[in-house]
Amino acid sequence: MSDLTNKRIVLGVSGSIAAYKSPEIVRRLQDLGAEVRVIVTNGGREFVSERSLQTISKNKVHDNLWDKEAELAMGHIELAKWADVIIIAPASANTIAKLCHGRADDLLTTVILATEAKIMIAPAMNQQMFAASAMKDNLELLQKRGMDIIKPGFGEQACGDVGEGRLADPLDIAKQAADLFTSSLLSGKNILITLGGTKESIDPVRFISNHSSGKMGMALAHACIQAGAKTTLIVGSISVDIEKRAEIIHVVSAEDMYKAVMKKINSQDLFISCAAVADFKPKKMSKNKIKKNDSPMTIELIENKDILATVSQLEKKPICIGFAAETENHIENARIKLKKKKCDAIILNDVSKSEIGLNSNDNEVHFITKNKSEIIEKNTKQIIAEKIINKLANYFFKSS
Ligand code: PMT
Repeated sequence: MSDLTNKRIVLGVSGSIAAYKSPEIVRRLQDLGAEVRVIVTNGGREFVSERSLQTISKNKVHDNLWDKEAELAMGHIELAKWADVIIIAPASANTIAKLCHGRADDLLTTVILATEAKIMIAPAMNQQMFAASAMKDNLELLQKRGMDIIKPGFGEQACGDVGEGRLADPLDIAKQAADLFTSSLLSGKNILITLGGTKESIDPVRFISNHSSGKMGMALAHACIQAGAKTTLIVGSISVDIEKRAEIIHVVSAEDMYKAVMKKINSQDLFISCAAVADFKPKKMSKNKIKKNDSPMTIELIENKDILATVSQLEKKPICIGFAAETENHIENARIKLKKKKCDAIILNDVSKSEIGLNSNDNEVHFITKNKSEIIEKNTKQIIAEKIINKLANYFFKSS
């Protein structure tokens, strides 16, 4: 199933009559979950209104390389870095020729030069222009440089000609963008992921919990599904949207999470323990709401079962991946956990920094196995998750 959840797409709209279809392309990309920002060229502006693109994309439309305001907030470099994919649709003959020459005389061509994102080109022009040998050579050159060409359709054109050169269908453009993110790396594999925080009740209204949002775990779920795995989520307390394509089991406490994991673990190939499971719970939950009195309050805590350590010691165990949330002696502590919990790899994240780790949109992690430690540098949790899943697939499932 096509999906662009959490993907950032820049849509470049250049001067072709087909530019009137660009708001629909924005819609179709959003339907698949993408956030879209639009760059329109001078030519594109002749065929589609900035207001429509702005309203539908819910973002300011970018059109000027020299826009002082844009340069302060999100200039060409920021846009180039922001995008996971840049789609030029429609791509006019002129814009395609400029890309071939590496021109940078407007915002769109400059962003293209400045980006590391995947670039997709959806040509749209008169059939005779599309058939011209200069156009064929230009598209071949762009393809050689790693850009994807979205084949135009065949049929009657705005000018009355019939032939190849109509802009591809907006839904097909969105689906082809989504295909960039799907693989069969983990197809046929069953993956169980725990995520979110657990809540340990003190009394009927109070509990002990933590700041886990579920963002990291949900990003992993998304990456597993994109890699073709059948994915089951044991979900504690979270503040993110649920990945609808996964099987979902909601739990509250660490004890619930333990039971849910044990029920599902037999059929799994991979277990990723991303949840922030409470190490301790109150020894007794008070049946009634605890009243204030003048003496200090003490809650006696006892240890919860360690879910990851239990799974790692099962006779028929899946590949077990832990997370280590550390605030000091990071690598050393993570290695101790790797050994103690007997997992196959541990993903270390620093939870003392507000811009990564708990509840943030970004993370930076170390992927640690018995013999290796590799950093996955700061990025969105989605990109970090995709990199983790690629590593796991290569380390543990390559030959199977
Ligand atoms: O949810 P987010 O806001 O996106 O934040 C993500 C995260 C920081 C919570 C996540 O990346 C993370 O680090 N999760 C593990 C948090 C944690 O509990 O770490 P720990 O070092 O205390 O535990 C080590 C491992 O043992 C973890 O895999 C944990 O899931 C597991 N564990 C811990 C206790 C317990 N009783 N059972 C367990 O299975």
